[in-house]
Amino acid sequence: MDNLQEFRDPVNYDLEELPGSADRIAFMCKFALRSAGPVLDLACGTGIVSLPLALLGLPVTGVDLSEPMIAHARRKARALGTTATFLVDDMRTFAAPTSFTFIALSGNAFQALLTQPDQSKLLRVVADHLDERGQFIFETRNPTGTDLRDSRTEEPWFTYVNASGEEVKVSGTQSYDKGRQILTWTSYRRWSNDDGQQVRRSDIACRFTEVDELDALLATAGLRVTQRYGSWDYRPFTSCSEEIISVCERT
Ligand SMILES: C[S@@+](CC[C@H](N)C(=O)[O-])C[C@H]1O[C@@H](n2cnc3c(N)ncnc32)[C@H](O)[C@@H]1O
Repeated sequence: MDNLQEFRDPVNYDLEELPGSADRIAFMCKFALRSAGPVLDLACGTGIVSLPLALLGLPVTGVDLSEPMIAHARRKARALGTTATFLVDDMRTFAAPTSFTFIALSGNAFQALLTQPDQSKLLRVVADHLDERGQFIFETRNPTGTDLRDSRTEEPWFTYVNASGEEVKVSGTQSYDKGRQILTWTSYRRWSNDDGQQVRRSDIACRFTEVDELDALLATAGLRVTQRYGSWDYRPFTSCSEEIISVCERT
């Protein structure tokens, strides 16, 4: 399955994601500013986090596997007059000649890595590129704080107004493969325009990692957690938290 189906329409991706991103952006800005840069934003998408950091004057490199997402990030960077650099690359194998004082990986992009070996490759890339006293911040949805039940009946999720001004109703189903720890969401976006009713289906698979498994993976890669939160507004992490947000340093 092509796991980038959700990222083919970056303009509308921003309209869906930006409204819920304020706390995450503020969190990242606070830590990145302390680091003074340079910053690496892995799986940066359209630059929802990278561009605010670049606007603060930090040198930012954003890396993402999706060409449409990177093309849109570049367009926005030009429009904002920032010097952020955006590269199409795979975060599992990314290699740069320099290190970074701050590395971000957010929007639950860690969950796009569907096996432990892929997660380990990414964490090694992070450890290899993190400055001796740099910080790496990422989040992954908490399996014990998430409804992982199969739900084959389509349920309404949210609505928004797309770039053409049409109201889009987003609904979907989910199915969980417990053995592989992979939840697959199927989304349906429905809207009407002059050509009639439109529907677009997309699938995305995400791996869910327990907090103990995560800490073991981080330790093996040479990273340790110095702070942990359950949400971007600094609530402490508990077993019921929706997110596992980890602030990490090199061991
Ligand atoms: C939910 S989006 C998050 C994007 C961005 N961080 C944000 O906050 O909006 C997940 C991103 O991960 C990217 N991605 C998935 N697998 C990747 C990989 N192996 N290397 C780099 N980017 C990847 C996708 O292209 C997509 O842009």
